[in-house]
Amino acid sequence: MANHTDSAATLRSARPAAPPGKPIPEISGGWPLLGHLPEFQRNPVAMLDRCRREHGELVRFRLGTREFVLFTGPEAHDCYFRAPEDQLDARAVYQFTVPIFGRGVAYDVAPEIMAEQLGFLYPALRDAPMRRYAEIMYDEAGRFADALGEAGVLDLPAAMNRLTVNIASRCLLGQEVRDQVDSGFAQAYHDLEEGINLIGFFLPRLPIPAHRRRDRARRRIAGILVRIMEGRRGSGAAPEDFMQALMQARYRDGRTLSDDEVTGILLTVLFAGQHTSAVLASWMGLEMFRDPACVARIRAEMREIYGETGAMSLAGLKRQTALEWTVRECERLHPPLILLIRKVLKPLQYAGYTVPAGALAVVSPAVSHRLPGLFADPQRFDPERFAPPRSENKQHLYTLIGFGGGKHRCMGEKFAMLQLKAIWTVLLDRFDFDPVADFPAPNYGSWVTGPMVPCRVRYRRRAQASVFS
Ligand code: HEM
Repeated sequence: MANHTDSAATLRSARPAAPPGKPIPEISGGWPLLGHLPEFQRNPVAMLDRCRREHGELVRFRLGTREFVLFTGPEAHDCYFRAPEDQLDARAVYQFTVPIFGRGVAYDVAPEIMAEQLGFLYPALRDAPMRRYAEIMYDEAGRFADALGEAGVLDLPAAMNRLTVNIASRCLLGQEVRDQVDSGFAQAYHDLEEGINLIGFFLPRLPIPAHRRRDRARRRIAGILVRIMEGRRGSGAAPEDFMQALMQARYRDGRTLSDDEVTGILLTVLFAGQHTSAVLASWMGLEMFRDPACVARIRAEMREIYGETGAMSLAGLKRQTALEWTVRECERLHPPLILLIRKVLKPLQYAGYTVPAGALAVVSPAVSHRLPGLFADPQRFDPERFAPPRSENKQHLYTLIGFGGGKHRCMGEKFAMLQLKAIWTVLLDRFDFDPVADFPAPNYGSWVTGPMVPCRVRYRRRAQASVFS
C-alpha cells in the first residue's frame, strides 16, 4: 500500500521530455547551473510576478537544475486544479512530510487512500462539533486576553502561535493534550516543525541534528497521543474532537485505524492548520490596526449580533460578515502558502503549450491575488470588495485561492475561518491595538509566510463595556 518514495530521487528524476506544442517561454535572467535560484531566494513573490509580467499565464523558470512552470490567472488555475492526480502529482512534492506525519498516512500512501483518511475527519467538521469548537475558541481567546493584563506590548506572531497551538491541541488532539501543552507537547511540536527545512525538502532522511531532533520529537508526540487513545478506550470516554472521529472510523474494507495511523493523520491536520492560521491571524491584526474604519465596522457588527444574547456562538460568528470579508482580504493580500507545487507525471496541454513530464508545476496565490484586472486596485486593503454587489472573488472559481483548489483544496477552511473570527472578536472586544513599528515585510524564509519577526504591537484594555456578558 505505502510507497516510501524518497523525495530527492523523485524530484531529481528524468529531464523533461521534449513535447509537441509551442515552447513555454522562459523568464529572462537565468544563471548557468543556478538558474533563477538567487533571485528566487531574495524574493520569490517578486520573481514570480516578474515571470507573469514578462510572459503571462504560463512561464518557465529554473531553480538549480529543476525546471518549473508557473500557471497564473483563473483559467490557467482551472487547468491546474482540474488535472487528475496521475498527471499533476502532489505526493512526490510532499515527501518531505513523511518523517513528520509518519509511514502509512497522507503523502506516504496512494492518493485515494489519503483522500479516504482525510475523509474520516468530516464528521468532526459538521455543525455540532463546530459549535463546541466555537466555545473552545472563545474560552482560549478569553484566557489569552485575561493573561495580557491592562496594557503592554506583545510580539504578535509569537502570541498568535501560542493561542492557535492551544486551540488546535484542544479541538484537534483533545483536552488531554491541551492539559499537557506546556509540559512537553509544545516543545516537541516545535522540534517537529524545525524538521521542515530546505535540506529536508530534498533529503528528508539525512541524519543532521535537526532531523534527529525531529524524529525524537515525533516519537515523543506519538507516545503522548497513544497513551491518550489507550486511556479513552479504557474509560469509554468519547469527546467530540478530531482524535475521536479517527478512533471511531473504519476503512471501506471494515478495518479500523491503528494508533499510528490516527497519530499520523492528526499530525497532518495539525501541521496543515496551525501555523497557517497563526500567520493569517497575525496579518489580520496588522492590517486592521492601520485601518480604524475597518475595526469600527467590525465592532458595530459585534454589538448588533451579540448585543442581545451576550454570548459568542457558531451562529453569531457565521453572521459576522464584515469580519469575514476582512479575513478574505487578508487571505488575498497575505496568503500563508505563497506557492503550491505538483510534479508533472504526464504532459499537460494548456493554451497551445505542452507542460512536459518531469517539470514541477506551480501556482502562486501571492502573485495571482494581486493580478490587475481581477481585483480593483489590487494592492489596496479593501475588505468591502467582497461585499455584494461587488463580490470581486465571485467572477471565477479560482480568483481567490489562498485555501487552494481542486482535489487538494483545504479541508479545514471553515475551521480556520471560525478560529480567526473568534480570536479577533474577543481581542477587539477587549483591547485597542497600535503597531510599534512600520508595517513588516513578509518573511519568505519560512515554509509559511508570516510577517518578519519580532513584530511588536502595543495594546490597551478598552474602557467600553464588553459585548459579552
Ligand atoms: C488560514 C489557515 C489555512 C490556510 C491558509 C490553509 C491553506 C491550505 C492550502 C492552500 C491547501 C492546499 C495545498 C496544496 O494544494 O498543495 C491546504 C490543504 C489542506 N489543509 Fe489547509 N489551510 C488552513 C487551515 C487549515 C486547517 C485549520 C486545517 C485542519 C483543521 C487544514 C487542513 C488541510 C488539509 C488536511 C489539507 C490537505 C488536503 C488534501 O491534500 O487533500 N487547513 N490548506
